[in-house]
Amino acid sequence: MEELVRRIQKDGNVLSEGVLKVDSFITHQVDPDLMKRIGARLAEVFAKKKITKVVTIEASGIGPAIYTAQSLEVPMIFARKAKSLTMNEELLTSSVYSFTKQVSSTISISRKFLSEQDRVLIVDDFLANGQAAKGLIELCQQAGAQVEGIGIVIEKGFQTGRQLLEDMDVPVVSLARIASLNDGKVSFKEADA
Ligand code: G4P
Ligand code: NA
Ligand code: NA
Repeated sequence: MEELVRRIQKDGNVLSEGVLKVDSFITHQVDPDLMKRIGARLAEVFAKKKITKVVTIEASGIGPAIYTAQSLEVPMIFARKAKSLTMNEELLTSSVYSFTKQVSSTISISRKFLSEQDRVLIVDDFLANGQAAKGLIELCQQAGAQVEGIGIVIEKGFQTGRQLLEDMDVPVVSLARIASLNDGKVSFKEADA
Protein backbone atom coordinates (compact mmCIF):
# COMPACT_ATOMS: atom_id res chain seq x y z
CA MET A 1 0.00 0.00 0.00
CA GLU A 2 1.93 2.95 -1.39
CA GLU A 3 0.34 5.55 0.91
CA LEU A 4 1.33 3.52 3.99
CA VAL A 5 4.90 3.03 2.79
CA ARG A 6 5.26 6.78 2.17
CA ARG A 7 3.83 7.56 5.62
CA ILE A 8 6.29 5.17 7.31
CA GLN A 9 9.13 6.85 5.40
CA LYS A 10 7.91 10.27 6.53
CA ASP A 11 6.80 9.66 10.13
CA GLY A 12 8.27 6.29 11.22
CA ASN A 13 11.35 6.19 13.46
CA VAL A 14 13.84 3.37 13.75
CA LEU A 15 14.67 2.41 17.33
CA SER A 16 17.55 0.11 18.16
CA GLU A 17 17.04 -3.68 18.16
CA GLY A 18 14.97 -3.78 15.03
CA VAL A 19 11.96 -1.87 16.32
CA LEU A 20 10.02 0.60 14.20
CA LYS A 21 8.23 3.39 16.06
CA VAL A 22 4.97 4.46 14.40
CA ASP A 23 3.33 5.94 17.46
CA SER A 24 2.33 9.21 15.79
CA PHE A 25 -0.11 7.50 13.37
CA ILE A 26 -0.69 3.80 14.26
CA THR A 27 0.25 2.49 17.73
CA HIS A 28 -0.49 5.41 20.08
CA GLN A 29 -1.86 8.49 18.31
CA VAL A 30 -3.94 7.18 15.40
CA ASP A 31 -4.66 8.74 12.00
CA PRO A 32 -8.26 7.62 11.46
CA ASP A 33 -8.33 8.51 7.74
CA LEU A 34 -5.26 6.39 7.04
CA MET A 35 -6.57 3.62 9.30
CA LYS A 36 -9.88 3.61 7.44
CA ARG A 37 -8.11 3.23 4.09
CA ILE A 38 -5.97 0.42 5.58
CA GLY A 39 -9.16 -1.36 6.65
CA ALA A 40 -10.78 -0.84 3.26
CA ARG A 41 -7.69 -2.25 1.51
CA LEU A 42 -7.60 -5.38 3.69
CA ALA A 43 -11.34 -5.86 3.18
CA GLU A 44 -10.86 -5.60 -0.60
CA VAL A 45 -8.04 -8.19 -0.58
CA PHE A 46 -10.18 -10.72 1.34
CA ALA A 47 -13.53 -9.77 -0.24
CA LYS A 48 -14.09 -13.19 -1.89
CA LYS A 49 -13.42 -15.24 1.26
CA LYS A 50 -16.94 -14.89 2.74
CA ILE A 51 -15.50 -13.62 6.03
CA THR A 52 -17.99 -13.64 8.94
CA LYS A 53 -15.75 -12.22 11.73
CA VAL A 54 -12.58 -10.13 12.00
CA VAL A 55 -10.42 -11.15 14.97
CA THR A 56 -7.55 -9.18 16.51
CA ILE A 57 -5.80 -8.68 19.87
CA GLU A 58 -5.84 -5.61 22.08
CA ALA A 59 -4.64 -2.88 21.98
CA SER A 60 -3.17 -1.64 18.71
CA GLY A 61 -4.73 -4.31 16.49
CA ILE A 62 -8.15 -2.83 17.22
CA GLY A 63 -7.73 0.20 14.93
CA PRO A 64 -7.07 -1.64 11.66
CA ALA A 65 -9.42 -4.48 12.64
CA ILE A 66 -12.45 -2.28 13.29
CA TYR A 67 -12.19 -0.55 9.90
CA THR A 68 -11.62 -3.86 8.11
CA ALA A 69 -14.73 -5.27 9.81
CA GLN A 70 -16.76 -2.18 8.94
CA SER A 71 -15.76 -2.51 5.28
CA LEU A 72 -16.64 -6.23 5.25
CA GLU A 73 -19.88 -5.52 7.16
CA VAL A 74 -19.10 -8.11 9.85
CA PRO A 75 -18.38 -7.89 13.60
CA MET A 76 -14.87 -7.39 15.00
CA ILE A 77 -13.72 -9.35 18.07
CA PHE A 78 -10.58 -8.45 20.01
CA ALA A 79 -8.89 -11.05 22.19
CA ARG A 80 -8.21 -9.77 25.69
CA LYS A 81 -4.85 -10.03 27.40
CA ALA A 82 -6.29 -9.74 30.91
CA LYS A 83 -9.43 -11.41 32.14
CA SER A 84 -12.30 -8.96 32.21
CA LEU A 85 -14.52 -8.89 35.31
CA THR A 86 -17.59 -9.38 33.17
CA MET A 87 -16.11 -12.31 31.23
CA ASN A 88 -17.86 -14.94 33.28
CA GLU A 89 -18.77 -17.13 30.31
CA GLU A 90 -16.82 -20.02 28.91
CA LEU A 91 -13.56 -18.82 27.37
CA LEU A 92 -11.34 -19.83 24.50
CA THR A 93 -7.77 -19.32 25.72
CA SER A 94 -4.24 -19.67 24.41
CA SER A 95 -0.76 -18.77 25.54
CA VAL A 96 1.31 -16.20 23.61
CA TYR A 97 5.06 -15.95 24.09
CA SER A 98 6.55 -12.50 23.50
CA PHE A 99 10.17 -12.57 22.34
CA THR A 100 10.37 -8.83 22.98
CA LYS A 101 9.20 -9.07 26.58
CA GLN A 102 10.37 -12.67 27.16
CA VAL A 103 7.14 -13.60 28.95
CA SER A 104 4.11 -15.72 28.10
CA SER A 105 0.64 -14.32 28.53
CA THR A 106 -2.81 -15.81 28.24
CA ILE A 107 -5.20 -14.35 25.68
CA SER A 108 -8.91 -15.07 25.57
CA ILE A 109 -12.19 -14.65 23.69
CA SER A 110 -15.63 -15.64 24.96
CA ARG A 111 -16.68 -18.87 23.31
CA LYS A 112 -20.12 -17.45 22.45
CA PHE A 113 -18.60 -15.11 19.84
CA LEU A 114 -16.95 -17.78 17.63
CA SER A 115 -18.42 -21.01 16.25
CA GLU A 116 -17.73 -23.64 13.59
CA GLN A 117 -19.88 -21.57 11.23
CA ASP A 118 -17.36 -18.71 11.28
CA ARG A 119 -14.85 -17.82 8.56
CA VAL A 120 -12.30 -15.60 10.25
CA LEU A 121 -9.93 -12.91 9.02
CA ILE A 122 -7.20 -12.16 11.59
CA VAL A 123 -5.90 -8.56 11.50
CA ASP A 124 -2.98 -7.04 13.40
CA ASP A 125 -0.83 -3.91 13.26
CA PHE A 126 2.56 -5.69 13.37
CA LEU A 127 3.87 -9.10 12.35
CA ALA A 128 7.21 -9.86 13.99
CA ASN A 129 7.67 -13.43 15.20
CA GLY A 130 4.03 -14.30 14.63
CA GLN A 131 3.29 -15.46 18.16
CA ALA A 132 0.25 -13.20 18.61
CA ALA A 133 -1.26 -14.36 15.30
CA LYS A 134 -0.50 -17.99 16.16
CA GLY A 135 -2.34 -17.56 19.49
CA LEU A 136 -5.34 -16.09 17.66
CA ILE A 137 -5.34 -19.01 15.18
CA GLU A 138 -5.41 -21.41 18.15
CA LEU A 139 -8.42 -19.59 19.66
CA CYS A 140 -10.26 -19.92 16.34
CA GLN A 141 -9.33 -23.61 16.06
CA GLN A 142 -10.73 -24.26 19.57
CA ALA A 143 -14.04 -22.84 18.37
CA GLY A 144 -13.91 -24.92 15.18
CA ALA A 145 -13.87 -21.70 13.13
CA GLN A 146 -11.99 -21.56 9.81
CA VAL A 147 -9.14 -19.02 9.55
CA GLU A 148 -9.27 -17.72 5.97
CA GLY A 149 -6.35 -15.33 6.16
CA ILE A 150 -4.21 -12.88 8.09
CA GLY A 151 -4.10 -9.19 7.21
CA ILE A 152 -1.12 -7.26 8.57
CA VAL A 153 -0.43 -3.53 8.48
CA ILE A 154 3.39 -3.68 8.91
CA GLU A 155 5.40 -6.88 8.52
CA LYS A 156 8.98 -7.02 9.74
CA GLY A 157 10.24 -9.30 7.00
CA PHE A 158 13.54 -9.96 8.75
CA GLN A 159 11.76 -11.84 11.56
CA THR A 160 10.21 -15.30 11.44
CA GLY A 161 6.45 -14.57 11.63
CA ARG A 162 5.47 -15.03 7.99
CA GLN A 163 7.21 -18.40 7.74
CA LEU A 164 5.51 -19.63 10.92
CA LEU A 165 2.04 -18.65 9.68
CA GLU A 166 2.54 -19.95 6.13
CA ASP A 167 3.69 -23.26 7.64
CA MET A 168 0.24 -23.35 9.32
CA ASP A 169 -1.29 -22.97 5.81
CA VAL A 170 -2.82 -19.57 6.45
CA PRO A 171 -2.33 -16.93 3.72
CA VAL A 172 -0.66 -13.73 4.96
CA VAL A 173 -1.19 -10.34 3.30
CA SER A 174 0.89 -7.39 4.52
CA LEU A 175 0.32 -3.82 3.38
CA ALA A 176 3.92 -2.81 4.13
CA ARG A 177 6.86 -5.21 4.33
CA ILE A 178 10.10 -4.11 5.91
CA ALA A 179 13.31 -5.69 4.65
CA SER A 180 15.60 -4.13 7.25
CA LEU A 181 15.95 -1.37 9.82
CA ASN A 182 19.73 -1.10 9.57
CA ASP A 183 21.61 2.17 10.16
CA GLY A 184 18.45 3.95 11.29
CA LYS A 185 16.97 3.53 7.81
CA VAL A 186 13.79 1.69 6.78
CA SER A 187 14.19 -0.51 3.67
CA PHE A 188 11.10 -2.09 2.15
CA LYS A 189 10.33 -5.31 0.30
CA GLU A 190 7.52 -5.38 -2.24
CA ALA A 191 4.22 -5.39 -0.31
CA ASP A 192 1.42 -7.94 -0.93
CA ALA A 193 -1.26 -5.32 -1.55
P1 G4P B 1 4.83 -11.37 17.59
O1 G4P B 1 3.43 -11.42 18.08
O2 G4P B 1 4.87 -11.13 16.09
O3 G4P B 1 5.63 -12.60 17.98
O4 G4P B 1 5.51 -10.13 18.24
P2 G4P B 1 6.41 -9.75 19.49
O5 G4P B 1 6.09 -10.65 20.63
O6 G4P B 1 7.80 -9.63 18.99
O7 G4P B 1 5.80 -8.30 19.76
C1 G4P B 1 5.20 -7.89 20.96
C2 G4P B 1 4.48 -6.59 20.81
O8 G4P B 1 5.29 -5.62 20.13
C3 G4P B 1 3.20 -6.62 20.01
O9 G4P B 1 2.36 -5.65 20.55
C4 G4P B 1 3.65 -6.23 18.61
O10 G4P B 1 2.59 -5.72 17.84
C5 G4P B 1 4.65 -5.18 18.92
N1 G4P B 1 5.72 -5.00 17.96
C6 G4P B 1 6.55 -5.93 17.43
N2 G4P B 1 7.47 -5.35 16.67
C7 G4P B 1 7.22 -4.01 16.70
C8 G4P B 1 7.84 -2.88 16.10
O11 G4P B 1 8.85 -2.95 15.37
N3 G4P B 1 7.28 -1.67 16.39
C9 G4P B 1 6.19 -1.51 17.18
N4 G4P B 1 5.73 -0.29 17.38
N5 G4P B 1 5.59 -2.56 17.78
C10 G4P B 1 6.09 -3.79 17.52
P3 G4P B 1 1.74 -5.83 22.02
O12 G4P B 1 2.68 -5.32 23.05
O13 G4P B 1 1.27 -7.23 22.17
O14 G4P B 1 0.48 -5.03 21.98
P4 G4P B 1 -0.13 -3.60 22.00
O15 G4P B 1 -0.92 -3.54 23.26
O16 G4P B 1 1.00 -2.62 21.91
O17 G4P B 1 -0.95 -3.65 20.80
NA1 NA C 1 1.64 -2.69 19.50
NA1 NA D 1 -0.47 -5.61 18.03
